[in-house]
Amino acid sequence: MKVTVVGAGNVGATCADVLAYREIANEVVLVDIKEGFAEGKALDIWQKSPINLYDTRTVGVTNDYSKTAGSDVVVITSGLPRKPGMTRDDLISTNAGIVQSVTENIVKHSPDAIIIVVSNPLDVMTYAAHITSKLPRTRVMGMAGILDTARYRAFLAEALNVSPKDIQAVLMGGHGDTMVPLPRYTTVGGIPVTELIEEDKLNAIIERTKSGGGELVKLMGTSAWYAPGSAAAQMVEAIVRDQRRVFPVCVKLEGEYGIDGVYLGVPVILGKNGIEKIIELQLNDEEKQLLETSRGHVKEVMDALDNINAAKA
Ligand code: LMR
Repeated sequence: MKVTVVGAGNVGATCADVLAYREIANEVVLVDIKEGFAEGKALDIWQKSPINLYDTRTVGVTNDYSKTAGSDVVVITSGLPRKPGMTRDDLISTNAGIVQSVTENIVKHSPDAIIIVVSNPLDVMTYAAHITSKLPRTRVMGMAGILDTARYRAFLAEALNVSPKDIQAVLMGGHGDTMVPLPRYTTVGGIPVTELIEEDKLNAIIERTKSGGGELVKLMGTSAWYAPGSAAAQMVEAIVRDQRRVFPVCVKLEGEYGIDGVYLGVPVILGKNGIEKIIELQLNDEEKQLLETSRGHVKEVMDALDNINAAKA
């Protein structure tokens, strides 16, 4: 299996590293526009192989997409990260151009690839990659839900003093302040979380999860990378090993949840064909309302992208 990671910055390099040391692919190609940057990161990962004992071949290239030809999965991490004070949506005009041009190059050399978008604003960059690629919606998806649920699960594990391994959760909607964590579908070793934690503490954790990316931007002056890079690698693994894992993933909705033509995080089954199935939960009225608010926000930013593209045409 061949996997390309576009963007050799913190997120892309972390993703490539996880793909290599967990031997998720035989070959990982790292691409960047900065001369020598991807080559250096890939070489560093390759030189770690005798220490960490893996044989995934990692190769770096500067903007040479011919080397990505025949990739089974491509992860797009290109674009600017946030700086303190910025929202993800502030990145739209810069990152849309980058994601669209990367997608064109990817599809030219790997027409059968499955594309995972990580660039922000996530839901709208998934839209940008999907319309540019002209691939079926099952093959172009965004990584956010695994990251957001990971934050939620980590905060819960800390509050309950239990292993994060035992916390299962699902979260829906856009990757931003309007995301919809679902306590009704959160369990700790099979026990509903609501039986183990007071409502106000759970609500505080939900709020912290919603601004989880921003908390890190404030602390570090730039966006996070360990959890985002690992989350993208987990999606690649589910696809290349046909694991049929159930994850929240950003995909174009076509009638599911009563929503049409908007890209949102929903639970899916992820396997060798990409999105094998979208799972439709029976949401209650409050959850439906929260999802509708998230839909409205993502749609506004999608419209902003349409305006940017129309102005360029
Ligand atoms: C995250 O949630 O960590 C990413 O979307 C990056 C960011 O700027 O928040």
